[in-house]
Amino acid sequence: MIKAFVFDAYGTLFDVQSVADVTEQAFPGHGEIITQIWRMKQLEYSWLRSLMDDYRDFWTVTREALTYTLDVLGLSPTATLFDDIAEAYNRLAPYPDAVAALGGLSGVHRAILSNGSPQMLDALVGGSALRDLIETTISVDEKRAFKPDPRAYELVEERLGVKPHEVIFVSSNGFDIAGAKRFGYRVARIARLPQAALAQEVAEEMTGALRPVTFYKALRTQEEALGYAPDFTVSSLTDLSRLAVAA
Ligand code: LAC
Repeated sequence: MIKAFVFDAYGTLFDVQSVADVTEQAFPGHGEIITQIWRMKQLEYSWLRSLMDDYRDFWTVTREALTYTLDVLGLSPTATLFDDIAEAYNRLAPYPDAVAALGGLSGVHRAILSNGSPQMLDALVGGSALRDLIETTISVDEKRAFKPDPRAYELVEERLGVKPHEVIFVSSNGFDIAGAKRFGYRVARIARLPQAALAQEVAEEMTGALRPVTFYKALRTQEEALGYAPDFTVSSLTDLSRLAVAA
């Protein structure tokens, strides 16, 4: 019996592309490339920090990834502008289907398990329309380990008292889907971009230069080939309410 739906935050409930207005305003003409490199480096740095056994919280990781991004593009913000851009991560827009989806899940725990630091998640969730729809927000920070490290996924049982097979873990991030599945959760993948649509987008752009956002989509929006397929694949968060019955 499914007792909890546990959601990834960045990219699943909240749109990481929604920083684009802030990055574009800060450096006109560079918004898209900043947005894509920043997110790619942010995840990469979380994995590197894990492999280096040199944990820093996700706020530090996010800021270090932004430093790398702006340096490599030759952009020099003032300290205030840098802080303003970084803060955009704490005000990401929820996906349009998130409120209805969470509101439609009754009789089960609704929680977030995120790499975000507690302060980031407080700001993000607390400042959003999802505030009253999420019961528990769990940061991996107390384990000093980022998803997909199994220690991070252990927190759900510790905090909610539910076993992995009683959980549907929801993510659109390929690495997180593989990690959650390997850990033992039932996993629902939110596939906002069908593989065929991505292939079409890439094919159309191949005649010129691939946009950074398309390259990002090719790297980060599809299922990983690591041998851990999700149990369910749905195109929208609002499809989740059917799964508790099916599972
Ligand atoms: C999260 C990011 C990594 O944990 O998607 O919310």
